Formats: sequence, C-alpha cells, structure tokens
Amino acid sequence: MEKLTVGLAENKYDILIGDGLLDDAGEFIRPFCPTDGSIVTVTDENVWEACRERFSSSLSRAGLTYRAIVLPAGERHKSLPDLLGLFDSFARMSLMRDGLVVALGGGVTGDLCGFAAATWMRGVKFAQIPTTLLAQVDSSVGGKTAVNLPQGKNLVGTFYQPKLVVIDPSTLRTLPAREIRSGMAEVIKYGAIRSRELFKTLETGPSGDFSRIIHECCRIKSEIVARDERDLGERMLLNFGHTMGHAIEKQSGFERYRHGEAVALGMTLAAGIGETMGLTAPGVANSLRRVLTLHGLDTDYPGNPLELLPSLTTDKKSGDGGVRLILLSEIGAAFARQTSFTEIRGALEDLARA
Ligand code: NAD
Ligand code: GLY
Repeated sequence: MEKLTVGLAENKYDILIGDGLLDDAGEFIRPFCPTDGSIVTVTDENVWEACRERFSSSLSRAGLTYRAIVLPAGERHKSLPDLLGLFDSFARMSLMRDGLVVALGGGVTGDLCGFAAATWMRGVKFAQIPTTLLAQVDSSVGGKTAVNLPQGKNLVGTFYQPKLVVIDPSTLRTLPAREIRSGMAEVIKYGAIRSRELFKTLETGPSGDFSRIIHECCRIKSEIVARDERDLGERMLLNFGHTMGHAIEKQSGFERYRHGEAVALGMTLAAGIGETMGLTAPGVANSLRRVLTLHGLDTDYPGNPLELLPSLTTDKKSGDGGVRLILLSEIGAAFARQTSFTEIRGALEDLARA
C-alpha cells in the first residue's frame, strides 16, 4: 500500500493506494466512524453491483454497519433534485452531526455525495472510495464538490475535504473500457500541465499499470491542492481543457460525452488556441492529439467550436468580457491567461481555416 498526504493545515488527510484495499476499507474508515459504528454509504447502481460484496464484507470484518443509498448512474443525476433526494434519505436515516458518509463510486457520486455531506447539518464527516479511473486520479482528491444546473456544470458547490481517500485500482477491472478512456484524459492532462516524464510514458501507449499512474496523478494533485486549496492560483492549472470541455458537456445536455471525452476535446482546442495566439510552442497541439488518439480519445469537436462561445459566458471562470483559459507553454508547463471572447473567437476562426 502506498500513502500520500494532502498537507492542508486544518484539513490534512491521507490517500491510500493499493490493489485489494477495498477489502480493508472498513478498517481504514473506522477511526472516522460515529461511536455506534454505523455509517451511510452513497453509491450508484453499477458500482453497487460490482463492489457491494467486497465493501459489505470489509465493513462486517471491521465490526461496522452501513445503510446504503443507491442512486441511478449518470451525470444527469449530479443534480439538485438528486441532492434533495439524498437529504430526504439522510433525514429518514437520522444521520446526525457525528455521522460519516462514504462515497463509493465515480466522480458523479463523489461530487454529489461530497456536497450533501458538506451541507447536511452544516457538515458531516465524509470519505471517498473512488471506483473509476477518473475519480482515482482526480475527482476524489482535493475537496471540490458540486451539482450541475441546467445553466452549467458544477455551478452549485463547495470546497469540502474528505477525511480519507481509499483507492483500490483492482476495482477498475469491472469498469467499462469507455470509462477507462475517459479517465485517461485526466491522466494525460496531468502530463500536459506538469510532468513531461508522465507524458513521455503515455506516448508509449496504454500500459494497464494503473497503480503507478494513479500514484503520480494523486501526488501532483495533492501537492497543488496543499498549496492552493481554494483554486485561487496554481490549482487553476488543473482546469486545462475544462473550460471548453464543460461548454461541450453543457452544449450536449450532459449526455453525449463522458467528462474525460469532453476534456480531451477541450484540451485539443485549448492547445490549438494557444498555438494560434503564439502562446504555446508549435507542435504541442499535435503531440497532445497523438497521445489522446493513442489512448482512444477523439480530438476533433464534431460541431463548430464557435457554437461553444455562449456557454463560456456562464463558466465559473468567466467575467470582464472573457474567461481565464489554461494554456500550455510547452508539454509539462501550463499557465492561466485571462482571454477575451474576441480573442477566443479569432483563434477559433483561424483554427477552422488552418
Ligand atoms: P461516473 O461517476 O458517472 O462513473 C462513470 C460510470 O462508471 C458510471 O456509469 C458508473 O456507474 C460506472 N462505474 C463506476 N465505477 C465502476 C466500477 N468499478 N465498475 C463498473 N462500473 C463502474 O463518472 P466519472 O467519470 O467517474 O466522474 C465524472 C464526474 O466527475 C463529472 O461530473 C465531473 O465533473 C466530475 N469531476 C470532479 C472533479 C473534482 O475535483 N471534484 C474532477 C474531475 C471530474
Ligand atoms: N479537477 C480540478 C480540480 O480539482 O481543481
């Protein structure tokens, strides 16, 4: 088992990574449980089918009991009505302030459940057991929680750190190939913004060695989050590809694309915009395209990217006639730049002509 620590002054917590850890999840979460040893777990129907037995046995072995809230799967359930449904279940289960809520699942479950835990009785303890590659490399770490509104992605949310993150890469064995590809987009993001070495490894194609990749992504993310928990500076770099990606998700009604697929398209657009504006080294967009394609991800937005512009205005990072775009100077190095909608429009028109 490997252990990383998110070194936040007041909300320090560990990330445990290792094959088979789901079987010991009960032991790991026990220190955070209420005295009656009863926890609430929030999961989705697919995850419950894949992980119920192991999760439930690990809790019995640790002398804990649980009540499970099993939600339908899918991004459209990261919504206000689903949040209200969770609150209703918490009330019926008499979840009290000393309670522990465990998110067992992907980023949708983690984001929704984290927001519910952050706001129920002004905050109850929360732990993450991520079961998608995307959640294991990114969303379970760092404490961003949210629900979507019809107006845009993640518009209602909080920063609320978990007490513990338990990552068991063996849970990925039941994850559909499309979800693995979606998670790889976030892995490629880490290489693109921060680690030329990781990017080089990814250039050799899919390896199946998820433990190493997960460890490297969580290491990068935990260091960044420890320095900038509230997304006021360095953490913004983790949004590379996300401004356009969120616009693509919204444009398609949160149905057509997996989050990582939209981020892959968004990263390609951002790299292209950067190159067109002379801010990104020539060739970077092509390197990014090659790696994304190698890992089974599409790189060409099938519509006209100009249609994404209206969605950018409701992005959390927009204001003053523009939006803060994350751009690459080269592979492994990123920066934030306030970019006007006129500049973005011009760059997208140039890209379409090229
Ligand atoms: P997801 O939670 O919808 O999971 C994808 C699918 O995989 C679902 O159908 C789920 O039921 C299934 N699944 C999960 N684990 C499984 C397993 N082990 N075996 C079989 N099936 C399994 O999607 P996701 O890609 O994990 O997360 C996407 C969400 O994460 C988006 O809403 C995105 O905004 C959010 N996100 C949040 C952060 C953050 O920092 N909080 C970062 C990145 C992304
Ligand atoms: N996924 C971006 C962040 O956590 O900041």
